Amino acid sequence: MDNTIKFAIIGYGRIGKRHAEMVKQNKQSELVAIADIDESLEEEVKENFSVPFYNSIEALLEAYPDIDVVNICTPNGLHAEQALMALSAQHHVVCEKPMALAKADCEAVISKALHESRHVFSVMQNRYSPPSVWLKSVMDQQLLGRIYQVQVNCYWNREEEYYTGSTWKGSLEMDGGPLYTQFSHFIDTMFWLFGDIKDIKARFGKFKEIEGNEFEDTGFIDFEFVDGGVGSFSYSTIIHDKNFESSITIIGENGTIKVGGQYMEKIEYCHVKDYEQPVLQPSNPPNNYGDYKGSAANHMYVIQNVVETINGDSKVTTNALEGLKVVDIIERMYEQRDLESLQTALKNSQSDLLV
Ligand SMILES: NC(=O)c1ccc[n+]([C@@H]2O[C@H](COP(=O)([O-])OP(=O)(O)OC[C@H]3O[C@@H](n4cnc5c(N)ncnc54)[C@H](O)[C@@H]3O)[C@@H](O)[C@H]2O)c1
Repeated sequence: MDNTIKFAIIGYGRIGKRHAEMVKQNKQSELVAIADIDESLEEEVKENFSVPFYNSIEALLEAYPDIDVVNICTPNGLHAEQALMALSAQHHVVCEKPMALAKADCEAVISKALHESRHVFSVMQNRYSPPSVWLKSVMDQQLLGRIYQVQVNCYWNREEEYYTGSTWKGSLEMDGGPLYTQFSHFIDTMFWLFGDIKDIKARFGKFKEIEGNEFEDTGFIDFEFVDGGVGSFSYSTIIHDKNFESSITIIGENGTIKVGGQYMEKIEYCHVKDYEQPVLQPSNPPNNYGDYKGSAANHMYVIQNVVETINGDSKVTTNALEGLKVVDIIERMYEQRDLESLQTALKNSQSDLLV
């Protein structure tokens, strides 16, 4: 029996190229076609992958009724609508993060997937990093006892070219904000380890006018975990020169752990009762997009998980409901965001920025 899984990719930008490369490298996968509205990419697609290029998802889906999986690698604001189109055509879906920009859109995607008996894989590749796998096992074994406090800090650098060089980054409609585009991986890590949150209080700031960025550049959010303990999520996109850190500090009854580095790639502190810190495999480097760096370069594991799951040899690493929960948490954090007053505060004063 031929277990080769046929993939098509929608959106051949920075991450779409990585998906294409990872599918090409996977021995049980076949890259069948790529679609992007930017027709200037056709030549590069043909040169690098020797597959047909289409200028719309509709044209690709019509031309290839027998693909297995459609990877959605387009701007955030298009994920839900394109996932619905792929599901309607009876294909499984790999959806880049975030799954959508609203919980209601995630619900529509999940409902369609259930109707069509298809999988939706949410891309949260940081889950494969050795420190994430280790943290998950520490939490599953309840080695820290009761959790008192969790602090997540994400301090990144995004310069003006990041926004002006993109058709969608920084736009309310297509991007949604830093919690969706830069930091949803770390919301996912927090949700994966500690579950849902409640009683959210948020402050947002805009300290720097950057052309093309319609959002806050600073956020400080605190909350309680439904399962107990308090938490905070603090972030910035205007760190000087380069990404500084993405870290998680966990304070529990039986110990304290900090995983940090630029993108949570190393254990910085581990002092736990009757427990010796293991030596972990090194994490893969961050995705390097030339003028900026992102999260872990782990997409090969995502593709492998899709292949194994469809062939019945594994289960989905990040399922659609988990993708929805990340969007739900971000949506609730952003309920207290008022972009208009942030902009006004930036114009009027340098001292009264936080709302
Ligand atoms: N998992 C990760 O670590 C990771 C990293 C980067 C980006 N992403 C996500 O991947 C998505 C794409 O990000 P990117 O940085 O590659 O953006 P990008 O701008 O580099 O690429 C997006 C591509 O989509 C194409 N496109 C736009 N509208 C389209 C449409 N209607 N149909 C087909 N193609 C269309 C654009 O022409 C462009 O080539 C975003 O949702 C982003 O959040 C995830």
